[in-house]
Amino acid sequence: MNKSSSWENFQQHYLELPELGISLDTSLMNAPDVLPNYAEKLFQCAFKQMHELEEGSLANPDENRMVGHYWLRNPELAPSTKIKNLISVTLENIQQFAEEIQQNKLQPQKADSFRNVLLIGIGGSALGPQFVQNALASEADCMRFYFLDNTDPDGFDQVMSAIGDNLNSTLTLVISKSGGTKETRNAMLEVRVVYEKNGLDFAKHAVAVTGEKSQLDQLASRENWLRRFPMWDWVGGRTSVLSAVGMLPAALQGLDIKNILNGAKIMDELTRRKDVRKNPAAVLAWMWHHAGAGQGEKAMVMLPYKDRLLLFSRYLQQLVMESLGKEKDLEGKTVHQGLSVYGNKGSTDQHAFVQQLREGPADFFVTFIEVLKDRKSAGIEVEPGITSGDFLQGFMLGTSAALFQNGRPSLTITLEGLNSQSLGALIALFERAVGLYASLIGINAYHQPGVEAGKRAAEDVIELSLKIQFHFKSHPEQQFSAASLAEILSEPAKTVTIFKLLEQLAANGRVQKISVGKPFSVEFKANP
Ligand code: PA5
Repeated sequence: MNKSSSWENFQQHYLELPELGISLDTSLMNAPDVLPNYAEKLFQCAFKQMHELEEGSLANPDENRMVGHYWLRNPELAPSTKIKNLISVTLENIQQFAEEIQQNKLQPQKADSFRNVLLIGIGGSALGPQFVQNALASEADCMRFYFLDNTDPDGFDQVMSAIGDNLNSTLTLVISKSGGTKETRNAMLEVRVVYEKNGLDFAKHAVAVTGEKSQLDQLASRENWLRRFPMWDWVGGRTSVLSAVGMLPAALQGLDIKNILNGAKIMDELTRRKDVRKNPAAVLAWMWHHAGAGQGEKAMVMLPYKDRLLLFSRYLQQLVMESLGKEKDLEGKTVHQGLSVYGNKGSTDQHAFVQQLREGPADFFVTFIEVLKDRKSAGIEVEPGITSGDFLQGFMLGTSAALFQNGRPSLTITLEGLNSQSLGALIALFERAVGLYASLIGINAYHQPGVEAGKRAAEDVIELSLKIQFHFKSHPEQQFSAASLAEILSEPAKTVTIFKLLEQLAANGRVQKISVGKPFSVEFKANP
């Protein structure tokens, strides 16, 4: 038997967390049995930085902000009484509001009770809430959920038509930390119109979760929305799921948010251990470092063998890639760091991309997630003595073994059951692993300059579109090609963008396209 798949090796690389019913098996990662000295030193430094962060240091130096998501599940840790009280009071307010909704003390304008939630947000203001809602959904849920996390007009129409006549019993949560994100603003404007078309006052159905005095906060206050819940500058978007961002929708769903937070709190305690081998977040961070040589050379493929965890890889994609994908390190050196994350679920993906994992480029490591408790009900045997759950586990163990035989490493996180506590713990585990790994590689995990750059570039495109439309309006009789318009607008370097904008305007009937034979001489004209 290969040493790495032996019982001895397994015991060496197996970490059990009985407090949470979670274990971590890294025996198939081909990592050294003993942590190398350089890594031990890096970790002790990372633990120190993490300690300072939890104590309230300005751990996000570019934005001059504290990083306080760990206080959300243990307000006692907050660096001031003011912050501690803010967290506790907000939590109480969330629970009270959810009760008022569920007990029909707060009623919609034209229905007996709120029975649906439409959540509008994007990135950290949508992925976490969506993941939690989906992972813990059950027949006991108090509300049905819908999500809008884009500015896709067809996407709006699809969701609004799915809500249909139930709009009058739908509570809309608009979630945006900055309160100025365009996708979220657009969705809110579109949804508001649908409420109005149905003779409903949007404000009587709307709740905002946002930073104090943000545009969204001011709007909600001016219009007297049902409620406003705070977001604080010391909680980053992608680590905000355990703030009002995720806990308000979870409470409305009827989930035990105290248990979610408690799971995270216990995991936080376990991931403060200074012994790397006993600290599950440090073990994860070390595996990421080991697999990708501290350069993100290998992608992390997430394969939860549980349908309920389908959205985990999407959620993690943001948490990990937005945090770790950085051009510069903390000293300003160009490093192009990152850790690619993709995945979906098993065994479904065994009929999709797992073929390449086994035989294609060895440019990844897999994180399997296993949930031991199959289901709530009794279930049947699909073959004598064998259940569907046995097959699920069989496929997972079979795949990890088959990958390992071909030199492809994997680690496995096992949960006894998926519930509010273990979900909170899972979230906290990866949040801490990201923070520790960022320290190992010396980058700021808590800013997102790349996202900001994309937003600014989009604003330039919108401005150009306005210029084009203005030009057509003031020259209603004339025809222009992309190149001629670029000349006129003194934007020759943006001819390609102008061409694409014209094509989109034409496809939506906002200008006319006049074909003149040659593809790039196509001309456009204002609508009559
Ligand atoms: O993690 C982040 O900071 C981002 O992904 C944000 O969550 C995302 O851009 C949405 O921002 P906001 O909540 O301000 O609308």
